[in-house]
Amino acid sequence: MFGKLKGYRTDGNKVYFEYEGSKTSPVLEAITDNIVNVLVDYTGGGHRTRAVEGELGKRLNAGKNASEEELLTQVAQEKSGVILKTASLTVVVGDDFMVDFYDKENQPLSLAYRGTRNLGADLDKASKELLSKEGHGISDRAADYPVQELRALDAKDCIYGLGDKTGVLNKREYEYEMWNSDIPDPQEDNFKSLYKSIPFFLLLKEKTCCGFFFDNHYKTFFNLGKECPDYLVFGAMEGNLDYYFIGGRNMKEVVGNYTFLTGRAPMQQMWTLGYHQSRWGYRTEEEIREIARKLRDSDLPCDCIHFDIDYMDHYKVFTWNPDTYKDGRQVISDFKEMGIKAVTIIDPGVKLEKDYYVYEEGVKEGYFATTPEGEIYVNEVWPGDAVFPDFGDAKVRSWWAEKQKFLIDLGVAGVWNDMNEPASFRGPLPDDVVFTDEDQPAPHKAIHNIYGHNMAKATYEGWKEYSGKRPFVITRACYSGSQKYTTGWTGDNHSIWAHIRMAIPQLCNLGLSGLSFVGTDVGGFGSDSTPELFARWIQLGCFSPLFRNHCAVGCRMQEPWQFGEEVLSISRKYMNLRYELLPYIYDLMHECEQTGLPVMRPLVLEYPEDEQVRNRNDEFLLGDRMLVSPVVEQGAREKLVYLPEGVWYDYWTGETLEGGQSYIRKAPLDTCPIFVKAGAVIPKYPVRTHVGKEKDELLILETYPGEGIYTHYQDNGEDFEYRRGAYNEYRLINHNGRLDMEMLHEGYQGYGKIEIRNKSQK
Ligand code: GLC
Repeated sequence: MFGKLKGYRTDGNKVYFEYEGSKTSPVLEAITDNIVNVLVDYTGGGHRTRAVEGELGKRLNAGKNASEEELLTQVAQEKSGVILKTASLTVVVGDDFMVDFYDKENQPLSLAYRGTRNLGADLDKASKELLSKEGHGISDRAADYPVQELRALDAKDCIYGLGDKTGVLNKREYEYEMWNSDIPDPQEDNFKSLYKSIPFFLLLKEKTCCGFFFDNHYKTFFNLGKECPDYLVFGAMEGNLDYYFIGGRNMKEVVGNYTFLTGRAPMQQMWTLGYHQSRWGYRTEEEIREIARKLRDSDLPCDCIHFDIDYMDHYKVFTWNPDTYKDGRQVISDFKEMGIKAVTIIDPGVKLEKDYYVYEEGVKEGYFATTPEGEIYVNEVWPGDAVFPDFGDAKVRSWWAEKQKFLIDLGVAGVWNDMNEPASFRGPLPDDVVFTDEDQPAPHKAIHNIYGHNMAKATYEGWKEYSGKRPFVITRACYSGSQKYTTGWTGDNHSIWAHIRMAIPQLCNLGLSGLSFVGTDVGGFGSDSTPELFARWIQLGCFSPLFRNHCAVGCRMQEPWQFGEEVLSISRKYMNLRYELLPYIYDLMHECEQTGLPVMRPLVLEYPEDEQVRNRNDEFLLGDRMLVSPVVEQGAREKLVYLPEGVWYDYWTGETLEGGQSYIRKAPLDTCPIFVKAGAVIPKYPVRTHVGKEKDELLILETYPGEGIYTHYQDNGEDFEYRRGAYNEYRLINHNGRLDMEMLHEGYQGYGKIEIRNKSQK
C-alpha cells in the first residue's frame, strides 16, 4: 500500500518517509538510543498518548522532537533502504514501509514480514448454523485491519507480556484483543480480552530480545503466530499506527526501557505488602468487626481489611451506610488500634438520584458522559441507574481527587477502584457515548481502554494531595502506564484449580508489562474454595506482590479459619513467612521503582537463554534469588521442580541442589517448595502482627553459602521523604557467610539491631 520509497527528510531525531503509493508520510523517531517510535498518522492528529506522560508525553503529543539530544548517529540511503543508526540500534526502512530492526552488532531484533496475511476462509453457512444450534460462538474470518503491522517470526521465537491475559506465559500462537472487559464467566485460556489493556509485548528470539508497545487505545488486535506461524500481526480498526520499538541488551533491559517510557511503579507504603483480608458480603459493621477480632485471636498477621460495596449507603460512592455500617470513623479508628487499616471500594458509576451530592455536583458542572444528543448517559451498575464521570477531562479528575477527602477524613488508608472498564449491567456502553480525551470530545470507543487509567490517576492524585502518604490504589481496569498510579488485581477468578494455575503466568506477564504490584484473589473469588485449594493458594499468594484473600457474596466463607485446624496452621505459617520476608519484598519494590523490573518474575526474565524456562508456567522467581514452585494440582504431594543454572538451596531443608536440571521434591500440604540461590542475602524481620509494629528494631540478614552482593534499602515506609534523601542503602557483600556491610547512603534512622544468620548447607 505504500509502494516504492521516494525519499526522506530528517528533522532532529525524526525521519519522514515519502512513498509513491501513500499520501501519509510515515515517521520514525528515536526517543532514546534504544527506543524508536513508528508513526503512520492516518488520523492527522499525531500522537495522542496517555501512557507516556510528563515532559516526554507532552512533547510527543505536541508533535515536537521527543529528545533534544542528537540520537541519530547516521541517516543514509543505501541499496537496502534508508539506514538509521542510534548508539544501540540500526533500523532499515525500505519499500512498502518495511522496517527492520537490528542491534549494534547487526543481529536482527525484528524484521518486517514481507508476505501477505493468511486470513483463512469463512465457515460455510451450514456449519455456522449447526454451531449456533448448540449455542457456540462463531468467530468471523479475521479482517485486514486498516491499521496494522506484520512482523516476521522465527520458529523458536517466544512472546511475553500483554498484561492480564489468561492462558500460558508464552503468548506465541495465541490471539488477543485489547478491550477492557468485565466477563463474569470463569476465565478460560482462550479469552481474548480481560479487564486491562496493556498493548506491550516482548519478542524473545534465541539470542536477542526486543519489545513492541502499540500505543493505540481503540480496540486493538494481536495475533501472535496463530493465524500463520511465520508472522505476528497487531492492528486496529481506527486510530494511528503508533508503536514504539524497544531494544535493550537483554529481556530485563527491554522491560526497563518500556517502563522508562511509560513510567515505573512508585514505592508503596510498607503496610500494603502485608496480608489483606476481604470479602464481598461483610454485610454489617458487627460482621466486619468480628473478622478483625478473629484475625487477631487466631494469631494471624494482617494489615488491612477491605470494605466492599456493602459499606456504602445504597451503593452510592463517597457515602457510608449509617444503618448497617454505623459510625465509620469509629470502626476505622478501632481497627487502627488493632493495627488494621481500612481500604474501601469506589466504583465509577454514580447513582442517579436527586439530592445525592455527588450526582448533583456532577450534573451541575457537566462532569458526566453524555449521549451524542447531549443528554447525560445512563446505564445500570450496583446502585441501579448510574451515570459515568468523564475522567478524560482534567476538571473531572480534580473533582474526583477532591472527593477522596471524604474517605481520608474517615481514616481510610487506600482505595480499591472497581468496575472501571467501565462495566455496566444493561449492555455495554455504546461506541458513541460522548466523553473527553483531554483537549477534545471523544467517543466511548476511543477512550474505553483508558477509562480505568484516568480514574486511577484521579484517585492517585487526590490521595497524593490530601493524605500526605504514598497513595495506595488498586484497580481492575487500566492501560499501559497506569503503574505510575495504581496497583492491580486480576478480577473475578474462581476457586478452581485451573485458576490457581493461571495465576502464575498471569501475574508474571503483568509484571513484565510494567504493572508489578499485582495479585489474584487468594482462594478464588467465585465458586467455593476447598481446604486443599485454599492452602495451596495461600502458599502462592504469600509470594505475590499484592496478598489479598477475597471472595464473593454467596460463596463459601474464605477466611483462613474456615477450613479447619490444619489449613489454619498452614495459613499462619505462610502469612508469617510473608511478614518475615517484608524487607526483601520491600527491596524489590524499591528496585522496581528504580529499574522497572517486577517483584514476581518468570524464570525466563533471569535466564532468557535457557530453553527449559521459556514455557515454564508453574514456577516463578521472587526477585532474582528466590525461586518458588507452588503446588497447583489437586492431591499432589510432590512437585517436579526445574532449577536454572547455578547452585540452589532448599529453603526448608538446606539441601544443596545443582541447577540446570529437574528434581522431584516432596511437597506435603504444608510445604510450598522454595529455593534460594547460592551467595544470596535475604533480609528478614521477625514475625509480627502488622507492619507498623517494631518495624526497625531488628533486621535479620540470612546468608546462603557462596559469594554475592546485595543492596538493602530502608526508609520510613509511608511518605515521599525518601525522595528527599530520607533513606538508607546498605551494600552487603557475602563471602560464604562472612558479611561485609557498607553504607551506600545514610539518611534515615538505622535499625536497633542487625543480626546475621548463616544458613548452613547440607
Ligand atoms: C466485582 C469485583 C469484585 C467485588 C464485586 C462487588 O465483581 O471484581 O472484586 O467484590 O464487584 O463489589
